[in-house]
Amino acid sequence: MWTFVSPRLIVYGDDALTFLEGEKANRALIVTDESILKLGFIEMVKNSLKAEKIEIFSDVEPEPSLDTALKCTKIARDLQPQLIVAVGGGSVIDVAKATRILMEVDIDPIAITPFTDLFELGYTKKAKLIAIPTTSGTGADVTWTSVLTDKVEHRKLTPANREVVPDVTILDYRLVASMPKRLVAGSGFDALTHAIEGIISIWRNEFSDALCEKAIEVIMNNLERSYNGDAEARAKMHIAATMAGLGFGNSQVGLVHSLGHTFGAIFKQHHGLCVALFLPYVMQFYLKSDAKARMDTLAKKLELENSEMLIDKIFELMKKVELPTKLSEVISRKDFESNLETLVMNTLNDSSLGMSPRIPDYEHTRRIYECAFEGRKIDF
Ligand SMILES: [Fe+2]
Repeated sequence: MWTFVSPRLIVYGDDALTFLEGEKANRALIVTDESILKLGFIEMVKNSLKAEKIEIFSDVEPEPSLDTALKCTKIARDLQPQLIVAVGGGSVIDVAKATRILMEVDIDPIAITPFTDLFELGYTKKAKLIAIPTTSGTGADVTWTSVLTDKVEHRKLTPANREVVPDVTILDYRLVASMPKRLVAGSGFDALTHAIEGIISIWRNEFSDALCEKAIEVIMNNLERSYNGDAEARAKMHIAATMAGLGFGNSQVGLVHSLGHTFGAIFKQHHGLCVALFLPYVMQFYLKSDAKARMDTLAKKLELENSEMLIDKIFELMKKVELPTKLSEVISRKDFESNLETLVMNTLNDSSLGMSPRIPDYEHTRRIYECAFEGRKIDF
């Protein structure tokens, strides 16, 4: 049996925030971060809400900690909001997702799995959760996991459950119109990676395939224009990122994310940049697996001859949006070599690895890193 998880509503357009005017909550909690607060988006959201009492939690940091989610939960427990509105990137949305559950259920987030019956534990879904992404990449607005870091025990917590997914996602193009170029490139490549990994994951299915395929087409045709400031392309990218989120959220990512998570955790680089750095190399690694046929089909849909041409096209796109195409453009050889063993071991222990169509062993993983560092083609 398969299930497909998604929000109840996706509202999109130039004025999508006006949807909030119809929300009938007396108490609302807005979850955001300091940079979004400065951009004035919270005022726009507040002006649309009719709630009598609105509180703002703006302490979300990149790669949010469990502690941050618990602080937000404390505010939610005191306020008892009927509405939680997350305005920001993936980190903000992840904190809001966890808060909505934790405000009602006293549970270690690590114990929230796809099989946990939260209603049996006292969850009554008191608050509706609305996600308003301000970047176009993470897909956190439609996925059913939340990623938190337990900084005391140095562990990543990923509560995953269909109750975690927001009820409504609002894609208002105004919120991404002034996104910095670097973020357009990084988040755009995160979305592209989600869609490509989602379409070759061993958990791929009919629904995820349809969404990932369309997202790839839109991203390949619009990322460069969006990067160069084209408003229409920027809006298309905003939709494509959520489309990719719906796709990979229902089929999962794989080796590219395992490498990207590991590299990002050690060298503190933006997630989108980290996955972009590995995407074409992993696709080369997959040329010797069943995934080649799927990549060939995808290439043909994009009017390219085969997988190899698709990989070349991805390298080309990286250059057009001024992303580095090898690790040596980002870190020194000394830093690379002194961390290589940890990089390899952490990649092999990453939870996304299992859904990859070809799982590398120790030696393969080491060689993938070396090729990605030097910009050498993977032919093994
Ligand atoms: Fe990602």
